[in-house]
Amino acid sequence: MEILVVGSGGREHAIIKKLKESPLCAKIHCAPGNGGIAAEGVLCHPVQASDLEGILALAKGLEPDFTVVAPDDPLVLGLVDLLEKNGFACFGPTKAAARLEGSKVFSKGLMKKYGIPTARYEVFDDAGAASEYIRAQKGYPLVLKADGLALGKGVLIAESQSEALLAVRSLMEEKKFGESGAQIVIEEFLRGPEVTALCLSDGETIRPLASSMDHKRALDGDLGLNTGGMGTIAPSPLFTKELEALCMERIFQPTVDFMRAEGQPFKGCLYVGLMLTESGPYVVEYNCRFGDPEAQVVLPLLEGDLLKLMLACRNGGLKEAEMAQKPGAAACVVLASGGYPEGYKTGCPIRGLDERGGRAGLEVIHAGTKLEDGRFFTAGGRVLGLTARGDSLQGALRAAYKAAEEIGFEGCHFRRDIGRRAVEGR
Ligand code: AMP
Ligand code: GLY
Repeated sequence: MEILVVGSGGREHAIIKKLKESPLCAKIHCAPGNGGIAAEGVLCHPVQASDLEGILALAKGLEPDFTVVAPDDPLVLGLVDLLEKNGFACFGPTKAAARLEGSKVFSKGLMKKYGIPTARYEVFDDAGAASEYIRAQKGYPLVLKADGLALGKGVLIAESQSEALLAVRSLMEEKKFGESGAQIVIEEFLRGPEVTALCLSDGETIRPLASSMDHKRALDGDLGLNTGGMGTIAPSPLFTKELEALCMERIFQPTVDFMRAEGQPFKGCLYVGLMLTESGPYVVEYNCRFGDPEAQVVLPLLEGDLLKLMLACRNGGLKEAEMAQKPGAAACVVLASGGYPEGYKTGCPIRGLDERGGRAGLEVIHAGTKLEDGRFFTAGGRVLGLTARGDSLQGALRAAYKAAEEIGFEGCHFRRDIGRRAVEGR
């Protein structure tokens, strides 16, 4: 089969590496891709993922047998609907189902309606009413969320009344995230370690992949600004088989059941962000796609044919599909450009990679790189994800960190404490 993968980051590179293992997969195209994806022998086409008409035109030219839409923006904009309407089979939810990620008001409303454990909340579409509500609150922190997509930055945790009022102003009046902030959710703050559960679903059956933990802050000790994710580990030692069974019963299966009941079956990868609170697991957020950089550690631990599984998500039959989790653990350390997540320089040559952009004993996942005359250069904030597997999490971390000392570029920075909390069991 010929496959088209839409997207350009580390997640897409991790998906492509796994798809290449499938005997069904003859050729892969990517739009727009990156340097590491190109070095895999994948044909990269210069069309942006959220250029829906551009991707449709590309599909008409390439006639792929199957298209994997990986990033949130094109899913929420309805790329799967557009391609399917034109006869192109896709992996990924429809626009209606992608609202689970695209609208917090929608997803919180359904969680409340169907009794899925999530933080108590109120919705506001008026800054005055939101401010009045805040003035009546006693307990802090309070969590304020823009309704729509905001590059992962639409969540503000206010430690005091004045911070909460400022957050309302920036979301609703200054419209820091544009129309995403036309409505906001204000919710209670949940305490506990966070775990990500990436699950595959064909609309009826839902099956979790290995659990994982992201590290969103830029600096060690969970300090500094929020980023797209500075590293991940899988599986999370906190997410026991018992917890998985509990989540399956109270959260995962009820979610696909309610989406079907609402007439919007969810097919694709459902990302469930969980907070393991003292009173059990709560949903912090749903995303409608593989996490980035969670995919970088979860997919290498998947024992199974990703292409067959993705086809089953679209066509049904996921219940019978073969899939298991490999033993051991995986760790991914992200090498970022100096200054990221704020302004940074690009075009710096990367040292320590072989001609395929890899390194022996390691999965080097490219996130923001370009390939020019056989050399790799930085081209984004998050540049590489160094992913290692090991019999233990400690072993995987050691291998990833050894590589992080040997691979780099001008201004490169990375967190030194990826996986530390997981190793310490907190
Ligand atoms: P979201 O975009 O909803 O995933 O939120 C981004 C991050 O904000 C989450 O990964 C959490 O770390 C944090 N967060 C969101 N909601 C809450 C909450 N109710 N309590 C505590 N932290 C939260
Ligand atoms: N790693 C967080 C996300 O993909 O949204």
